[in-house]
This record gives sequence, C-alpha cells and structure tokens, in this order.
Amino acid sequence: MLKGKHIILGVTGGIAAYKSAWLIREFVKANAEVQVVMTRTATQFITPLTLSTLSRREALIDMFPPAPDQTTDQWTKHVDLSLWADIMLIAPATANTIAKIAHGMADDFLTTLVLALRCPLLIASSMDVDMYRNEITQRNIDILKETGYFLIDPDSGELASGLTGPGRLPEIERLVKIVDDLLHKIHQDLTGKRVLVSAGPTQEPIDPVRFFSNRSSGKMGFALANAAALRGGEVTLVSGPVHLRTPRNTRRIDVVTASEMNEVMQSKFSSSDVVIMSAAVADFSPAHRVEHKLKRGDEVDRRFVVELKGNPDILKTLGEQKTHQVMVGFALETDDGVENAKKKLDEKHLDAIILNNPNVKGAGFGADTNVVTVITADGKIDELPMMSKFDVANEILDRVVTYL
Ligand code: C5P
Repeated sequence: MLKGKHIILGVTGGIAAYKSAWLIREFVKANAEVQVVMTRTATQFITPLTLSTLSRREALIDMFPPAPDQTTDQWTKHVDLSLWADIMLIAPATANTIAKIAHGMADDFLTTLVLALRCPLLIASSMDVDMYRNEITQRNIDILKETGYFLIDPDSGELASGLTGPGRLPEIERLVKIVDDLLHKIHQDLTGKRVLVSAGPTQEPIDPVRFFSNRSSGKMGFALANAAALRGGEVTLVSGPVHLRTPRNTRRIDVVTASEMNEVMQSKFSSSDVVIMSAAVADFSPAHRVEHKLKRGDEVDRRFVVELKGNPDILKTLGEQKTHQVMVGFALETDDGVENAKKKLDEKHLDAIILNNPNVKGAGFGADTNVVTVITADGKIDELPMMSKFDVANEILDRVVTYL
C-alpha cells in the first residue's frame, strides 16, 4: 500500500527522534514519498540535514523561515501539504505536542499543519513513564482519540531516563505496518458523497426534568462518521445526547427526542447519498406533555402511570421515500437475530442491516469494540469477528460503496 503514497512524518523533540531516520528509510524503500516536518526541539536530537537527505526533501521546521529563504507562497505551505498528503504520522510525539494538538494550538509549522490536515493522522507518543501516565497527558490523549486521530500506544521497557514503564517508541517495523494497515482500510471512495449518520440514544421527556432513554453511547455512529469523513465523504452526524466529542471534518447536529431526530433526518434525506441509521431511537415517548415537574406525593404506597405512545419509525419512513440513497440500518437482537434482521431489511427498504447482540462479549453499548453480522440486500450474510468500532465502520462502508 505504501508505494507512491504521500506520507508526512512529524518529528518532535524526544530522544526517540533519532529513530525517525530509520522510519524514513523504510518508507522510501517501499517507494513512498516522505515529507518531514520537525519541531524546533526535534532539531536538538537529530539534524534536519540527516532527515532531509534521507527523505530527499527539505525538512520543514518553521512557519516563517528567515528572510532570504522567504517566498510568497511559504505561508500557505501547511494548506498545500494537507492536500498533498495521504497520511501523516507523528513519531515520536511528545507530551507537549500532544497537548498542543489536543487544544488546537498552532504555534509552529507542525501544529499548524495538523489543524489544516484532512488525511488520517497517526500519533505515536513517546516520553518518560511519569509524563505518559500523567492524568493531563492521558486526558489529552483521550481528546485526540475521540476526535478521530489514531493513537499508537508506546511500548513498555527501559527508558532513556533509566526508569522502566510505558513510553518507548514502538519498533520501526510495527509503525510501518500500522501506517500500511490504515492505508488499506481508508480509501477515498466517498469523495463528493453526502453521508448522513444518526447516532446515540434519544431522550423522551416525562416532565421538564425526567426522561426515558436507553444505554446507547453513540460510539458506533461516531466511528462511522469519522471513517466516512476520512474516506472523503461530506458527513452530517445527527446525534442524540451523548458524551462524545465531534469527529474531525464532520458536521454535527444535536437532537434530544425521536421526533426531533425524525425532523432533521427528513430535512437532510433528499440531498444525501448514504444514510446510516445507527441511533437507538426510543420506540415510545410519553403520550402527554407535562410542563411542570411532577410531584412525588407523600403517601407511602405511591404509584404512577405514564401513558406511552409509539414514536415514528424514522428509517422505515425514509426507506419509503428512497430514490438513489444507499441505506443502512442496525438491528439489536437477542434472539432469532438473522431472521428478524432480514425482515427489517425488507420492511425498511435497506441495502444493508447490521445485526448485533448486546449480550455477546465485546459487543454492544459503551464498548470500543463490536461483534456484528452484516446482511446485505443481495442476501449475503457476513459474520464478522470482534473488532474495533472503527474497523466495523469501515467494513460497513466497504459494502456501502459497492451500492453507490
Ligand atoms: O425495528 P428496530 O427498532 O429494531 O430497527 C432498528 C433500526 O431502525 C435502526 O437502524 C434504528 O436506528 C431504526 N429506527 C428508527 N426509528 C425508530 C426505531 C428504530 O429509525 N423509531
């Protein structure tokens, strides 16, 4: 996969920066083109001359190089490079650069480029064990993961400081393989396509402070939105109330109730090419709207009855209006899964349905992994092994593109 690919290698100021020379050699040997971007501190650990020579391109360091070198197009270079790149890897990534990226800072060429970046970004953190375990570093890493960047965990072992623990840059072959694998998964096959994804639960109000809802975390839908955007799609993510950050390069519309979700999905439907309904829409909502907070009453043997009415089946309604859209639904089933899912695929006029069972280990609400069976309109049934929700998302999108 590396042949002919445009790779940006970001190098920041940690002791493992010396290993970037080997990384470049591996990429060049595989016939990839490499553009090195270094931070100023990285140049203390390895010279720009070494990395420029190995990559056969001048390593970029400053946003504004000193006067004699300055040309008028220099200041837009971060934008040009973003368009040029197929993938970017920062190895090693220091705690400082991770913190800056997590908070949107752009005070050098590397971090400015990251803000402008469209392609997948892999970040291989490498630092001393206490810096890595520091809760602020971990929080920053979480921000980056949720935003849709790919964090490569450091190896554990002896560190330059003499301490032992996680912090070592993984072996070069492993890093090269991770880059290669990601390029395998992400093709630019949704370029120009408008992708509408729903995610998360809905909340149905009982009174101004209480509601019915379900355990959906939104992770599967957010992974789908991230993967679709990385494949070039113009993604609109319609999300119920979740505790997740918006994936990069996606447009997010927040809704609360099934009826709000229905309204937004309806308004976006005709202009969409792909519709993926991964939201766990509440099937019922309270039949009567109560404007004041319900009183608990004082009797000991209290009872309370809430009358429920059925919510619209958003996907089914959209399926009936289908013109050119490729449509995917989810089916959460604990019994007779395949049979029920096939029925739903037909009833809702879908191209594919993704069956999962929350009782299976590694599947279901809140987890970062899922175990699904993909059933397509042509009758194919693919039982997939346990994989990350991002990988499941790509499996789904691989099938979507065949229907486009
Ligand atoms: O019929 P069931 O609820 O199992 O179908 C699940 C699929 O239908 C999911 O894709 C879900 O997002 C969608 N759905 C919907 N509107 C509802 C209930 C489910 O669009 N009210």
